[in-house]
Parts: sequence; C-alpha cells; structure tokens
Amino acid sequence: MRSAACILIVVCSAVAVFGGAAALDFSGDGGGGGGGEGMRTSAAVRVDPTWRFPSSRLRDAYVALQTWKRDAIFSDPQNLTADWVGPDVCNYTGVVCAPLPSDRRVLAVAGVDLNHGDIAGYLPPELGLLSDLALLHLNSNRFCGVVPSTLRRLRLLHELDLSNNRFVGAFPRVVLAMPSLRFLDLRFNEFEGAVPRELFDRPLDAIFLNHNRFRFEIPDNFGNSPASVMVLAHNSFGGCLPASLGNMSGTLNEIVLINSGLNSCLPTEIGLLREVTVFDVSFNRIVGSLPAAVAGMRKVEQLDVAHNLLAGEIPAAVCGLPRLRNFTFAYNFLSGGESPSCARVVPGGAGERRNCLTNRPDQRSPQQCAAFYARPPVNCDAFHCKPFLPALPPPSPSARDELSCAVNL
Ligand SMILES: *[C@@H]1O[C@H](CO)[C@@H](O)[C@H](O)[C@H]1NC(C)=O
Ligand SMILES: *[C@@H]1O[C@H](CO)[C@@H](O)[C@H](O)[C@H]1NC(C)=O
Ligand SMILES: *[C@@H]1O[C@H](CO)[C@@H](O)[C@H](O)[C@H]1NC(C)=O
Ligand SMILES: *[C@@H]1O[C@H](CO)[C@@H](O)[C@H](O)[C@H]1NC(C)=O
Repeated sequence: MRSAACILIVVCSAVAVFGGAAALDFSGDGGGGGGGEGMRTSAAVRVDPTWRFPSSRLRDAYVALQTWKRDAIFSDPQNLTADWVGPDVCNYTGVVCAPLPSDRRVLAVAGVDLNHGDIAGYLPPELGLLSDLALLHLNSNRFCGVVPSTLRRLRLLHELDLSNNRFVGAFPRVVLAMPSLRFLDLRFNEFEGAVPRELFDRPLDAIFLNHNRFRFEIPDNFGNSPASVMVLAHNSFGGCLPASLGNMSGTLNEIVLINSGLNSCLPTEIGLLREVTVFDVSFNRIVGSLPAAVAGMRKVEQLDVAHNLLAGEIPAAVCGLPRLRNFTFAYNFLSGGESPSCARVVPGGAGERRNCLTNRPDQRSPQQCAAFYARPPVNCDAFHCKPFLPALPPPSPSARDELSCAVNL
C-alpha cells in the first residue's frame, strides 16, 4: 500500500511538471505553484466544430473537464466521470450549471462537486477555464500534487473544499487571490511550511487547516479574521495564542487549536469572545492560569483546555456559564477545590482527572503536584506575545466634557 501511494505521488508530480496539456493561453496568470504550466506534451482536447454550445463559457468548461478526465484522472472507481462525454457539460455527474450572476441569460458551470469520489489524479491548469465556478468540492478523493495557480481566474469561487486528499507543497497562495472566497477547507492533506499572514486579512467565514504539516507561529493579525469557524488543529504552530483574537469577539463561533504546539499563557482577551460556542486548546503546552476572564464567554458550550500545563484554581464563575455543557480540563496542574457547580458541566472522571485538585478523585500524586508548584511561577510576559490594542471607541459626550475640562485646567 505504502509503496503504491509513493509511486502515485511520483507519477503525479512528473505529470504536473512535464504533462499539463497546452492549447490554452494561460500567459499572464503568473507563474509559481503550478510547476510548468503552459508546457505541454499531449495534444489539447479537440472540440467537434459541429457542436453548438449555449455559451462560450460552456465550451471552455468542456475543454477543462475533458482535459481533467483525459490527462489528470488516473482512477475513478465509482465511474463518476464515465458520463463526462459530449458537449452537454451541464449533464455531467457532479457538474452544476446556473445562470451567470452578471447576465442571467448566460448559462455557466457554477459548481463541481465530486465529494467522496475516491478519484485519483491531479488538478490540471485548465481548471482555470471554469472561471464562473462558485463551488469546488473535492472532499475525500485522492487528488495529489499542487493546486494550480490558474485557479486565480475563479473570481466567483465562494467555497473551496480540498479536504481529505493528497495535496502537497506550500500553502496554496492562489486562494488569497480569490476575491469571493468565504469557505476554505484544506484539512487532511499534506500541505507544509508557513501559512501566509494575509490569510487572516481575507474575508473568510470558515477556515479549516487541520491535519496538515503547516509549521508557523500564528501571526498577530490573526484577530483581523472575520471567520466564525477557525480550525487549525494538528499542525505545528508553537508560540503564542495571539491576544488579537479579542478582535473576533462579535464573530468567532468556533475555534479549535488542538495539538498545535502552543506554548504561552492564555491571553485574558479570550474572555472577549462573547459569541464563541466551541473553544478547544487541548493538547498544547499552555502555561499559567485559566484566566477568570473566561467567564466572559457567555455562549460557550464546549470548553476544552485538557492536556496542558495550567496551574492555579479554576475560576468559580466558569462552571456557572449558562450554556456550558462540557468543560474538560484533565491532565493539567489545576489546584484547590473544584466548585460544586462544576459537577453539572465536567464529564465525570475523564474531564477532570490528573490535576492537583484537593476534593476530586484520580488526581496527580501529592509529590508530582508539590514538585510542579515548587518551580518558580510562570511569567507570562516572558513569552513576548504581542498585546491586543483595540481601537479606542469614540469618546462619549461626558468624556469629551471631562477632556475639555482637563484641557482648560
Ligand atoms: C465502473 O465501470 C467498470 C467498467 O465499465 C465496471 O466494471 C465497474 O463495476 C463500474 N463500477 C461502478 C461502481 O459502477
Ligand atoms: C442528460 O442525461 C440523461 C441521462 O442521465 C439523458 O437522458 C438526457 O438525454 C441527457 N440530456 C442531454 C441534453 O444530453
Ligand atoms: C480588528 O479587525 C479589523 C478587521 O476585521 C481590522 O481592521 C483591525 O485593524 C483589527 N484591530 C486590531 C486592533 O487588531
Ligand atoms: C466532552 O468533550 C470532550 C472533547 O472536548 C470529548 O472527548 C468528550 O467525549 C465530551 N464528553 C461529553 C460527555 O460530551
């Protein structure tokens, strides 16, 4: 199995570099990322001159889809592309046509959905011809290689789901150039290296990067993201949980940073996340205390800080949060007595074990706790995490009066 997968990847990258069919002029799309786009060895897809397409856009879509099928799909066990024959691309399995938003008389390919197709192959640069695509869903296939930079032509693309494939290489920067993109799902691939900080300045509503090989420090502009769902788990970030997430107070609904290598204190700004329902920073090396400000997460339902190095007492107000259903903090060094209100929200045993609590079962040994607490207390400032400096609200009339008084003095 393992060697078969390796051979496929080798074939895949060889095709991506030397194959990549040619009849279309992609000059001006910029290089980078695609690897040899524009170089061709195989002939371009021929379009029968007697065929009449309802629009030139559907003719382009025909070339894109036929090139994909002929040159870049190596295995299609469910025969999803078997009916990709002839000029009626709107009838192809997984292809959805719709009138163009800019001219409703023109029909164009608006969606390609091959989710759970188990298809092996790669994405040829010709997919840039699907320039009216709003949805591209390729979840759970065996597509490999890199994401072609010609996809920058997909100016209407709203949802890009490449999850659970075999894409490799650097973060696909082409997604930063897609003005309409709101939903980006790259999880369960083998992307590696840094995630560009520009990602967090994009108007994305959902960002899924989990289970890749990304390695970077979460940049301090993180809080610029208007995303409601942010799942970055199971990568290697290290460093700070940016305090700028306080800027996401009105928009962030779910944040999942499991096993991300975070090594700092929890910024008190997490308490500003008044819309958050899921907050999970388990399996990191977070130190310091659980800030009392957490009680500001008025809508939180799932709160997971387990498997970290948290110390000190559990702020009493946390267990009393009105919507909290599952508060898990096992495998830390939390101390003192657990408040009785926690019984309602902490999953019995598993949620609280292996801490230094005085009134709960299955805690760490007194020796282990004593050794931990004998160490000097954590200095959160030593991590040099960037502070969050919220824009000051405009002064209220009374404040302005005070100000003018002060000036008069
Ligand atoms: C796909 O087509 C091949 C060849 O026609 C056939 O043997 C196979 O059973 C088909 N698979 C499915 C899932 O329909
Ligand atoms: C679309 O496909 C169906 C069968 O899947 C077929 O009956 C119909 O004729 C096709 N329409 C066109 C316009 O080709
Ligand atoms: C908060 O986010 C907005 C964009 O949503 C950005 O313009 C602003 O600079 C951010 N402020 C801080 C202090 O990060
Ligand atoms: C609570 O959440 C943790 C993960 O955060 C999960 O493993 C556990 O099953 C949940 N327990 C209950 C009772 O929902």
